[in-house]
Amino acid sequence: MRYFCFMIIVVILSITVPVSAGYRELFEKEFLSKPWSSEILEESACVECHTSEAMPVELRSIPQEWQLSWHYQNDVSCHDCHGGDSTDATMSMSHKRGFTGTPKYTEVPEQCGKCHIGILEHYIESGHGKALKETGDGPNCVTCHGAHNIQQVSIDIINAQRCSKCHSYDRAKMMKQALFLTDEKIEKIDEDLKQLRSKGVYPEKEEKRLFDTQAKFRTLFHSIDVARVKSETDFYTEQLDSIEADVQKTYDQLAFRRKFSTFLMLIFAGSWIVASYISKSYKD
Ligand code: HEC
Ligand code: HEC
Ligand code: HEC
Ligand code: HEC
Ligand code: HEC
Repeated sequence: MRYFCFMIIVVILSITVPVSAGYRELFEKEFLSKPWSSEILEESACVECHTSEAMPVELRSIPQEWQLSWHYQNDVSCHDCHGGDSTDATMSMSHKRGFTGTPKYTEVPEQCGKCHIGILEHYIESGHGKALKETGDGPNCVTCHGAHNIQQVSIDIINAQRCSKCHSYDRAKMMKQALFLTDEKIEKIDEDLKQLRSKGVYPEKEEKRLFDTQAKFRTLFHSIDVARVKSETDFYTEQLDSIEADVQKTYDQLAFRRKFSTFLMLIFAGSWIVASYISKSYKD
């Protein structure tokens, strides 16, 4: 009879454990294959010297701002933007080591565009990019995102204060309206995915799909072409609907697993009672 109970436990464990291990495995695989995640920030001579007493006071806030930024969290450091050698304090800022210094106002997009390639392409073709090139009047990346304190974006970057400096806010508002529904959908799916994570499920595949779709969609803004955003909205709605449906499936599976585990627990408890009753009466 002991053997019988033991077998029940083994069967239950073998049904429930692989389910959660599967998710963990998937998480580790996905996480390690993400670009940037494997590269751990080494000690940087730039950061060390720029936080030291040697620094003019007015420049000391820069590393502090950077440490609060989304770039910091993603291992994008001083030398990734300014060039130079972060491992050798004496030669760090030598042009021989690729140091490019502070970019001029008109050079900023090229600097950021080294990594944000798709965005640079849209930007260069846009009214903003052309104005920057031709008259120096267009906004550059820093005008809207900042340089050292860059955060994850939201549609609220488009606001009256920022967007009415050079022209009427009406144009900006039309763009915001065109982006609004798709943006809201992205936020909602993002919330749902966070919820799943908090329940111990790691929906990497959906997270990756959302990340890719969101990155493509948010690139589109930089064309500042309202008609274009409107005409591509159907495409993005379709993509997001499909991700949403898969997220819903995961929710349903989760509910099913919960019910199934309860069911197994009941069987287990029932078997235990029966088994101990039989073994007791057998001994008697
Ligand atoms: C994402 C790219 C990026 C990163 C990362 C970055 N910078 Fe900059 N930095 C810029 C840009 C663009 C400017 C010029 C625009 C501005 O001054 O706002 C600039 C300007 C500066 C300036 C000149 C400021 C002035 O007022 O003359 C200093 C000094 C500087 N950065 C140091 C650093 C240090 C130190 C780090 C690392 C802690 C760092 N930067 C990280 C993009 C970056
Ligand atoms: C040994 C100290 C030291 C190290 C190491 C150092 N810096 Fe600097 N850096 C300074 C000082 C001091 C200034 C201010 C110079 C001035 O105002 O004349 C400065 C100025 C700058 C500026 C603005 C002036 C310019 O030439 O455009 C940038 C950008 C910059 N540093 C980036 C970096 C980066 C990137 C690294 C690492 C690759 C780095 N620094 C390493 C001391 C250092
Ligand atoms: C060395 C590569 C690199 C450079 C140069 C760079 N970035 Fe980034 N940036 C990244 C990475 C990596 C991320 C994090 C992944 C992501 O969120 O897309 C990021 C994220 C961002 C985000 C947040 C995106 C989000 O998810 O909401 C903004 C905004 C941004 N960068 C703007 C800039 C601007 C402006 C510059 C130039 C001043 C710049 N970046 C220069 C690599 C770079
Ligand atoms: C530094 C100045 C400046 C700022 C700040 C600025 N713009 Fe512009 N914007 C321009 C210029 C210059 C043009 C192109 C010339 C024109 O059509 O007036 C333009 C054109 C536009 C257009 C029309 C494009 C077209 O092809 O019809 C839109 C839409 C727009 N901007 C949106 C925004 C939004 C949204 C913001 C805020 C996030 C913003 N702008 C902030 C300078 C600026
Ligand atoms: C006129 C203001 C403005 C300018 C100029 C601008 N951006 Fe943006 N950027 C935005 C807005 C607004 C969004 C969010 C769009 C949305 O929510 O759909 C955004 C989104 C982004 C994102 C997030 C994309 C993602 O993966 O989620 C990155 C990265 C970025 N910008 C980088 C840049 C770079 C690099 C430049 C310069 C070449 C630049 N931006 C110029 C306003 C601007």
